[in-house]
Amino acid sequence: MAFILLLAALLLALFLHLLTKKHRRSTYTLPPGDLGIPVVGQTFSLLNSLRSNTDDQWFRTRINKYGPVSKMSVLGSPTVLLAGPAANRFIFTNNSLALTQTRALRALLGRSILTLNGDELKQVRSAVQEYLRPEMVRRYVGKMDEEVRRQIKLNWVGRDTVTVFPMARRLTLGVICSIVFGQEAAAMVEAHADDFQMLGDAILSFPVNIPFTRFGKGMKASAKIRKSITRIAQKREGSLLEEGRAASSTDFFTYMLILGSQGAHSLTLEDIVDNAMGIIIGAHGTTSALITFMIRHLANEPDVLDKITQEQDEIAYNKGTEDVLTWEDVSRMKYTWKAAMETLRTVPPVFGSFRTATKDIEYQGYHIPKGWKVFAAQSITHLDSKFFNEPTKFDPSRFEKRSSIPPYSFLPFGGGSRMCPGTEFSRVETLVVMHYLVTQFRWRLCFKDETYTKDPKPTPVFGLPVELELRRPPATADA
Ligand code: HEM
Ligand SMILES: *[C@@H]1O[C@H](CO)[C@@H](O)[C@H](O)[C@H]1NC(C)=O
Repeated sequence: MAFILLLAALLLALFLHLLTKKHRRSTYTLPPGDLGIPVVGQTFSLLNSLRSNTDDQWFRTRINKYGPVSKMSVLGSPTVLLAGPAANRFIFTNNSLALTQTRALRALLGRSILTLNGDELKQVRSAVQEYLRPEMVRRYVGKMDEEVRRQIKLNWVGRDTVTVFPMARRLTLGVICSIVFGQEAAAMVEAHADDFQMLGDAILSFPVNIPFTRFGKGMKASAKIRKSITRIAQKREGSLLEEGRAASSTDFFTYMLILGSQGAHSLTLEDIVDNAMGIIIGAHGTTSALITFMIRHLANEPDVLDKITQEQDEIAYNKGTEDVLTWEDVSRMKYTWKAAMETLRTVPPVFGSFRTATKDIEYQGYHIPKGWKVFAAQSITHLDSKFFNEPTKFDPSRFEKRSSIPPYSFLPFGGGSRMCPGTEFSRVETLVVMHYLVTQFRWRLCFKDETYTKDPKPTPVFGLPVELELRRPPATADA
């Protein structure tokens, strides 16, 4: 259904394109490459390569044929594919290139950090960055710990098999909601877990609001979530007026309302609600992909698992069984984080990003006309043997010396002014999760060579079922 709609839309766009065809100035030196069939271009070919997880070969074939700057056509726009660290730097830092979100995302998330631009974006970015900065994340560790333990007890302990991908999604949704909503988190997750799934699924869909399509379901889910969140936001606004400043509160609404009252931004309550949705969507599918693929890698890498276990057992040893993890504990999980970074290198949760040229620009002697898209894929440098020796090998020790990794070659969180504001949050969350999994369980993949697709986030085809075994708990100081 979605496919047919997409095809219909592309044909319509093709028709309009032929009607309005403009003559480009012939003095332009456009990048080499072909735009394929007008409008349709390489859209289906690229989407198929993502689906079959052969996108990296797809990019490399084009780069070998046309060089590191080439043109193609995706989703109805002429698009320049750029490859290499210098290109990444250009894409993430040049202010004539604006982050481009799909029309679906804009419809689904309203006025959020993911969709605003200009001065409004500046205000939202700085407020959201404040909320997610390391000093704040430090205050969230206890809550994260509590939610992770609760879910592991509920969904992992006592099972012979666990399907990792949906469990990791449940975990990361629970964690971000427990921070953003505070005491209403459990009720929100209970009521809206499926809605968040549908909203996430709709982001790359074709934005025509017809019931039962991916987008139609996403819009319905979005409206339901927005209604519930608005109720919470109004409640927070009410109690803030009644009780004055709840200075120690970490929920997103109280925080944003206080920032607003101090003049740091002029967002309305509706905008704050949209941004809560934006943060949850940004936080949840990405971190769950990291956790899922880290679990998968560790099942195949006994030496890495041993080293992580040593590090985590040592931390567990110094605590009582009921003590929550602290910021200090997390900062000692250095090797575990290297294994997480190696996971982000080999299976980046975000495969790439699009920018739009806001004026005519030039790159390495080629013109990129205003309105064209520019695209960079993370895997192009992540899996290039020029920057990572034996790039397909899983080897956390390559992160031992950060200086050996060239700037702008490892970009799982993007870069520049739109870089992921949730980097620290996802680091701490992932480490807390891995602490409890590694110290309590051992697991074996049910399908040793289970493949994954990019949908567009990496998704194991069977959801990564594993056989689970309880591990003898490590000795602790109070045992
Ligand atoms: C492993 C986990 C994560 C990965 C790999 C990741 C990756 C990314 C990337 C690549 C971007 C930038 C896209 C671009 O420039 O084109 C981004 C943006 C963003 N991320 Fe994350 N992210 C992760 C976790 C999180 C978490 C935990 C949060 C919130 C708590 C979050 C919130 C956001 C937001 C709000 C944006 C939009 C920023 C903007 O548009 O200015 N992310 N993320
Ligand atoms: C952005 O690119 C243009 C040329 O295409 C260049 O003139 C300009 O200096 C670049 N800006 C930055 C900040 O790199």
